[in-house]
Amino acid sequence: MREHILQLEEISKKLEPTIKKRAEWNQGIQEYADNFLNTLDDQKAFVLGEDGKDILKLEFGSEPKNLDDLLKILKKNVDSVSLNPASGGHLGYIPGGGIFPTAMGDYLAAVTNRYSGIFFGGPGAVRIENQLIRWMCELIGYPKTSLGNLSSGGSIANLIAIVTARDFHGIKSKDVEQSVIYLTNQVHHCVHKAIRIAGLREAKIRHVPMDNCFRMDTNALKKLVEKDISNGLKPFIVIGSAGTTDVGAIDPLNDIADIAEVHNLWFHIDAAYGGFFIMTDIKNPDGSTIKDKFKGVERSDSLAIDPHKGMFLSYGLGAVLIKNVQAQMESHYYQANYMQDTFEANDELSPADLSPELTKHFRGLRMWLPLQLFGIEPFKACLEEKIWLTRYFYEEVQKLGFEVGSYPELSVAIYRFIPKNSAPNEFNKKLVEYIHKDGRVFISSTTINGDFWIRIAILSFRTRLWTIDLYLEILKEGIASISKENTNAIKISNS
Ligand SMILES: Cc1ncc(COP(=O)(O)O)c(C=O)c1O
Repeated sequence: MREHILQLEEISKKLEPTIKKRAEWNQGIQEYADNFLNTLDDQKAFVLGEDGKDILKLEFGSEPKNLDDLLKILKKNVDSVSLNPASGGHLGYIPGGGIFPTAMGDYLAAVTNRYSGIFFGGPGAVRIENQLIRWMCELIGYPKTSLGNLSSGGSIANLIAIVTARDFHGIKSKDVEQSVIYLTNQVHHCVHKAIRIAGLREAKIRHVPMDNCFRMDTNALKKLVEKDISNGLKPFIVIGSAGTTDVGAIDPLNDIADIAEVHNLWFHIDAAYGGFFIMTDIKNPDGSTIKDKFKGVERSDSLAIDPHKGMFLSYGLGAVLIKNVQAQMESHYYQANYMQDTFEANDELSPADLSPELTKHFRGLRMWLPLQLFGIEPFKACLEEKIWLTRYFYEEVQKLGFEVGSYPELSVAIYRFIPKNSAPNEFNKKLVEYIHKDGRVFISSTTINGDFWIRIAILSFRTRLWTIDLYLEILKEGIASISKENTNAIKISNS
């Protein structure tokens, strides 16, 4: 047996590269990363037509492969196809960019493989994660006793909050059909997913009407809640948004908080996109400030906020903040006999007791490192820059003949070209196709009340004034090209 073990050891030792090999691989990876970053401004934000399927040809065989060859394959099939989320030209969905120290934090977290699930096993790592959560709680105005969890993103953050609210209100399966959830139809779709995953599919979902800026109409909310109560139903949660994905709208948080307080509703806010804008010092045209728009945010019970959006980190870090930590624990903790050695160490609450995860990525390091290395100031400046870029775009795009949606509350705006001789929806769809084919920037579209709108979402830290000027040029070129195509088509059909 000893001999067999030693034979296996010889092979398994290959999993620990030598110092020389590590240096060689490190150099290869670093050169790849440097080359990627140094050429970003010349790379397209979107590459249409390539879909990376050749990656599947590379099977997992028993023969080791060479790093250089693998990097070439990755470059061709992964890093040169479709959307380039690192590009400052990414102006669609909700971008972020991916600041470099995120990668340094991930690298260290992976090399040291520190455990950040339970305080006993990784007290330093857990302290870092909880300190970051408390820092975000402070930004929002939550009391010091609040906590939450660092999640993989906004979807899981919203899920943790909804599950906590469900259990806090004691909703068992038999109660689900009588339970009522209030939200607007602008809420992010991950909230609907979370409701389903939380076993609340059969709950009554009230889509509260909105004002013409897509913000929740709180008079309508009040009436709906009162009606449901008088009909014997059990309203238990209202979900507001601080920065909707479609248009960046912020619901009237303080008014929602009033109603939630009167009727004992759990008030959850999805601020996954908009949350960090609370750091900005910017005036709105009506004299109010961006901070004013967040008034009442501190009165909510829970809030989702995504550092991989508003802190520009690479994908993989969201957060949920929760005031009633005991309620969060009751939904998520579990004690097993084989964990008994850990029970006494509880200087800090353990992430494993506050989320569905046990063994987890030490994702806090990817936020802690950039915050410590840069300090807060550049993040704040970058958020303010994005607001001003959006305002600049909003003004300039109208000069090109575009109709615009309401004044951007944050850094998302919608707009559509109104052509003289063709249907707007068709024209704007073609315009999006033109922009995607061009690829220098990437934008996405949405449909609101049957109208096709083009969106711009400016949140990549790499988006600059020149990017927006370039996009305005592309729009001009696109309009000219589609108009010419349409005129030729009319000529042909008339001839
Ligand atoms: C407002 C809002 N909530 C939630 C999410 C979902 O977050 P994630 O994609 O990180 O799961 C998004 C994503 O864009 C969002 O914009």
